[in-house]
Amino acid sequence: RNSKRQIECRRDIDRLNARFLGIYESLIPPDEEKVKQKQLVTLLKKLVIKEWPEAELYIYGSCGNSFGVSKSDIDVCLAIEDLDVNKSEVLLKLADILQSDNLQNVQALTRARVPIVKLMDPVTGISCDICINNLLAVVNTKLLRDYAKIDARLRQLAFIVKHWAKSRGVNETYRGTLSSYAYVLMCIHFLQQRKPAILPCLQGMEITYAVTVDNVECAYFDQVEKLSSFGSRNKESIAQLVWAFFNYWAYWHDYANDVISVRTGSILSKRGKDWTRRIGNDRHLICIEDPFETSHDLGRVVDKFSIRVLREEFERAAEIMQYDPDPCVTLFEPY
Ligand code: GTP
Ligand code: MG
Repeated sequence: RNSKRQIECRRDIDRLNARFLGIYESLIPPDEEKVKQKQLVTLLKKLVIKEWPEAELYIYGSCGNSFGVSKSDIDVCLAIEDLDVNKSEVLLKLADILQSDNLQNVQALTRARVPIVKLMDPVTGISCDICINNLLAVVNTKLLRDYAKIDARLRQLAFIVKHWAKSRGVNETYRGTLSSYAYVLMCIHFLQQRKPAILPCLQGMEITYAVTVDNVECAYFDQVEKLSSFGSRNKESIAQLVWAFFNYWAYWHDYANDVISVRTGSILSKRGKDWTRRIGNDRHLICIEDPFETSHDLGRVVDKFSIRVLREEFERAAEIMQYDPDPCVTLFEPY
């Protein structure tokens, strides 16, 4: 009877895996969408070069890091070498140029925390945010993209986690929950910690890529095509990983003492980083170290109310993965 039960169990897991993979596939942007994004960026480049011949335009965020679901906005960074450019002036000028080229809803938000120009392309319906000289974001976008190339399970897990977070309303930094960027770092760290590891720690390896941006040294091993079998000793399936991910954040993470660190591929102590006290608005109630700006805690947006919401959601998800006969529906139920 035991072996019959095992076979049934196996079937359940296979079925659940297929369901998760189905959800993942349905979230991936179709090729034609990628083509349209490229066309819009090409158009923007053409317009920008006329005014600033030395400037570069980079895609960052989810369209560049390979963790973007279908219908995401494009995040673009305009890089201008000139060190004392006045960002507001550039943004207003840029808005002017774009406006007169048939782009819609062009808006310069010069007072935002990250000042941007927003616009919509009427041909493709794609929205786009353009910021100035945010090169650290361009570099961390490359890091995430490189991690995604190593093992397919990272992209699968991160899509499921982001989809869960959006469905449950816990992907809203202005309301004290976490950014998509933070969730992807949580997934990378989690896969670095599996035994055997599914992802390496690229910043702990031989340096093949190095840039210094805003006085921050960004260096790591980026020849990731050489690592394509890195995770193959670990046979865990996506359903198991989703279960273990939520289980970790619901019951095992030490919120009082621990900092997760993709940079070191390990857990650091809050004490070591002096993240034990509230300083200004940084409360450090859940600590996620930025891989390059190491003094930067991506959990800084979380306050004493939203930490409860977040932890309750992790617990809810863990319970569903443990007990629900049809977790793929319940997990993503709108809140
Ligand atoms: P979605 O738009 O939700 O699909 O995800 P996204 O990957 O575009 O994430 P998000 O809008 O949270 O952030 C866009 C990009 O900005 C990220 O990919 C990072 O490159 C960068 N970014 C976001 N937050 C931070 C931050 O706190 N510090 C740094 N250095 N970069 C950040
Ligand atoms: Mg984005």
